[in-house]
Amino acid sequence: MLELMSRRRSIRKFKNERVSEEAIKSLVDAALLAPSGKNAKPCEFFVVQDKVKIEKLAACKDGPTEALKSAPLAIVVTANPEKSDVWAVDAAIAASHILLEAEALGLGCCWIQIMNRRSGQLMADSQVKKLLNISTSLSVLCVMAIGIADESKEPHAIDSLSRSNVHFL
Ligand SMILES: Cc1cc2nc3c(=O)[nH]c(=O)nc-3n(C[C@H](O)[C@H](O)[C@H](O)COP(=O)(O)O)c2cc1C
Repeated sequence: MLELMSRRRSIRKFKNERVSEEAIKSLVDAALLAPSGKNAKPCEFFVVQDKVKIEKLAACKDGPTEALKSAPLAIVVTANPEKSDVWAVDAAIAASHILLEAEALGLGCCWIQIMNRRSGQLMADSQVKKLLNISTSLSVLCVMAIGIADESKEPHAIDSLSRSNVHFL
C-alpha cells in the first residue's frame, strides 16, 4: 500500500481514450467502500463521461481545473449534509479511495476542489449542481478527473516526507 501511495501523483493531462466500464465499476466500488461517520453513508456520486459536460465542469470554478479539459471521465463527489454533520469528511475519504483505486488500476486522477470555491460571484457548488441537474439537498465536495495518463511524474520519495509534521509523545 505504501508503494502505491508513493506512486500516486496528481495527473492533469489525459489521453483521448475512454476508461473501461470495468474500471469505472471498480472506481465506484472503491468510493462506496469508504467508511462514514456513524455509518450514515451520506455520499452520492455522479459519473460523467460526456466530454462536453466534463469541459463545462471545468468552467464551474475559478482556479485550477486544467485536469478536466482532457479527462474522459469525471466523478462528482457529493454528500447530503442533512444525513451527517461530518459529510465533508465522509466525502473526502470516498474521494481518497477513488484516487488510490485509480492508481491501482493504472489510471491517472486529479482532485478538483469545489467546496468553498467560487465561480465569479457565484459558488462553484451551485454551478456544478445546475450543470448536472443535481439535487439542491446535496453538497459537492470535489470532482475527480480520471483517465489514462498522458504525462508522467516521479513518485514521492519516502525519504523526503515532512517528518517534522509528526510528533511522537
Ligand atoms: C483537498 C484538495 C483539493 C485539491 N484541489 C485541486 C484543484 O482544485 N485543482 C488541481 O489541479 N489540483 C487540486 N488538488 C491536487 C493537489 O494540488 C495535489 O494533490 C498536491 O499538489 C500534491 O501533489 P500530488 O497529488 O501529485 O502528490 C487538490 C488536492 C486536494 C487533496
